[in-house]
Amino acid sequence: MGSDNTAGKSTKQKMWGGRFSAAPGELMQAINVSIGFDQRLAAQDIRGSLAHAAMLAKNGIISKQDLKDIQEGLGEIKAEIADGTFPFSDELEDIHLNIEARLKDKIGDAAGRLHTGRSRNDQVATDFRLWVRDYLDHFDAQITDLMTALLTKASDHTDTIMPGFTHLQNAQPVTFGHHMLAYLEMFARDRSRMKDCRGRMNESPLGAAALAGTPYPIDRKMTAKELGFDRPMANSLDAVSARDFALEALSVASICATHLSRLSEEIVIWTSAQFQFVKLTDAFTTGSSIMPQKRNPDAAELIRAKTGRIMGALTSLTIVMKGLPLAYSKDMQEDKEPVFDAFDALSLGLAAMTGMVADMEPNEERLLESASAAYSTATDLADWLVRKLNMPFRDAHHVTGTIVALAEKQNKTLDAMALYDLQTVEPRITDDIYSVLTPLASASSRTSYGGTAPSEVAKQVKRWKKALG
Ligand code: ARG
Repeated sequence: MGSDNTAGKSTKQKMWGGRFSAAPGELMQAINVSIGFDQRLAAQDIRGSLAHAAMLAKNGIISKQDLKDIQEGLGEIKAEIADGTFPFSDELEDIHLNIEARLKDKIGDAAGRLHTGRSRNDQVATDFRLWVRDYLDHFDAQITDLMTALLTKASDHTDTIMPGFTHLQNAQPVTFGHHMLAYLEMFARDRSRMKDCRGRMNESPLGAAALAGTPYPIDRKMTAKELGFDRPMANSLDAVSARDFALEALSVASICATHLSRLSEEIVIWTSAQFQFVKLTDAFTTGSSIMPQKRNPDAAELIRAKTGRIMGALTSLTIVMKGLPLAYSKDMQEDKEPVFDAFDALSLGLAAMTGMVADMEPNEERLLESASAAYSTATDLADWLVRKLNMPFRDAHHVTGTIVALAEKQNKTLDAMALYDLQTVEPRITDDIYSVLTPLASASSRTSYGGTAPSEVAKQVKRWKKALG
């Protein structure tokens, strides 16, 4: 927004443009208003109110007629919000007051009785918990989809050889399926962390009222059950001031995002002209407006970047919370935007990554060629010397080093070296050694549990197919 205060702008625009020359009332509203973002809690707010009203009626705190009116009014409001006709108003500050005022328009005094035995403090804590819980359930489904996409790729490539790296240097040949399953394991842990988080946060703040509880004969167990919570929170001060559920959800979201980001980074490297390990179709790449040959992995880059936003949200909310005395402080209104933004970013990232994994085609020829380079089977050569010649591993390491130096001089891969040349370094070497020098032989020999051998990868694929159904 510009800083000039030109005529013809509305009062609101002038307020910003005029370097805060607005009336105090307007400034107060500008800093206080949250309806612009907390309208995302509308569905949860209505659910909470319906549960609360039913409980009030059951316990004789409001009449059956009031309950009926409240239910009808909230039903209409729900429909208005769904079809975009609800008149959201800044003057009414937040989602709770917007809905309550609208209910009053519709049903009169009964609307005022809905707020008996509760406060906006326990109301917002309840709404936000429900919202976070709903999103965790959505993530559970999304992560499952991503795991399924990884599993399909793994299953198609249990014996596709690729270079395995340490320090991004060729280390030992692995299989593409093994690499996919490594990510599947990480996302499985993310899913389990979200489940733990959901379990811990699934307690109801409703009925804690402003901070101290209420003298009305309310039934917190009833509202907790109605809203799908395991139990009411046991301390009313804690109930209205706790936001660690949001912090924990942001933490697990951040960890999940690091996994997305690492896979994105690999895709960026793999799709480069220098690597050409995998190909993405036009569905997940963009062209350059000036360089016609380019196919950029934008989706992977954006997922990598969005990880920064998600971690930023965790930092931001942690800092909002760290200095707050009990119980509610208005600072806590700033809890929502970071969570909304981070969860939307993670959801989009999970969806895009699922699409990219399905879209990605490994270039098998190029992967094998790269796995053969840089003497990636040198460890296998040393292991052969240990197994067949009973050489101590340290000596075998030394002999292998000498052979690699010779291969380098001859500009040959290990499996292309003449037996005669190998024997100049260690005369006891026989032509049996060639059975371990190809990348496929190397990978196939790694049959230890969790190893990269195609036979092991196939076993893990089978296990995951059963687990994911
Ligand atoms: N909009 C407020 C928030 O999100 C609702 C709670 C307001 N409570 C209060 N005592 N002013 O935090």
